[in-house]
Amino acid sequence: MSRRAVGRRDRAVDAGAQPPADAFVPRGQYIRPVVVPTRIRSLAPRMPKSHFYDLSDAERTAATIESIDARRTMVERWSSLADERPRGWTVRARIAGKWLRDQPAVADLGCGTQVLEAHLAPGTLYLPVDVVARDGRTVVVDLNREPLPRLPARAAAALGLLEYVFEPEALVAAMFAAFDVVVTSYNPRDLPAALADRHANGWVNAFDQAEFEQLFIRAGYHLDRRYAFDKRQVIWRFTTAKPAPGSKSPR
Ligand SMILES: C[S@@+](CC[C@H](N)C(=O)[O-])C[C@H]1O[C@@H](n2cnc3c(N)ncnc32)[C@H](O)[C@@H]1O
Repeated sequence: MSRRAVGRRDRAVDAGAQPPADAFVPRGQYIRPVVVPTRIRSLAPRMPKSHFYDLSDAERTAATIESIDARRTMVERWSSLADERPRGWTVRARIAGKWLRDQPAVADLGCGTQVLEAHLAPGTLYLPVDVVARDGRTVVVDLNREPLPRLPARAAAALGLLEYVFEPEALVAAMFAAFDVVVTSYNPRDLPAALADRHANGWVNAFDQAEFEQLFIRAGYHLDRRYAFDKRQVIWRFTTAKPAPGSKSPR
């Protein structure tokens, strides 16, 4: 398999700089974000920014392998979500919203288009975190390179994020130190409709369902709820407190 380079190291994205013109900016306005200070080095990719899915399978696979080898988040892919497939993301956001309804504050790690916010209980303090500033509230951090920011929330969502994390064990351990409740989704490799070529989707790891659950259990969490959907995704609720015996897993 070709491992040709996909870019060169000459562009720096400053977390305080204006986002690219095609970045996702809700409400049509960019407000300079108050962010955890960070500078994110990015390879200037050969692929046009935001057109990951315009590339061929082979090119996307090569770009992903390159990013794994370099331990480099593909920030250029995430600078715009216009070419992603956010429609499928509403199912998990709806379930996560229900499972987080009792939480006064929720950190949304890898918030993307922030679909989750609308599904939380009214009045919930919503704290979006992402490698790209999605709006003026976004705490900008590359979770592959930088520590989890300290946030005023004891609950977090990590939906469609851990597929893109090189060291999920370390991130889950940091989550355990920060959050009592985590709702997370993942595409395990052993589900009936699991994608055969994970690299073509940009996924950098490949856990089966049991291995993924063990990441959280080894960190100290208890499995509270699990729900499989789409024939290839699972969403879980993990808690630091042991669930009451016989407690159900309602959706
Ligand atoms: C597949 S999208 C999911 C978006 C959202 N959670 C949802 O389910 O609708 C992945 C999100 O994670 C963010 N992301 C990817 N790698 C990241 C990293 N290393 N640090 C922080 N955010 C990251 C991307 O920018 C993108 O917004």
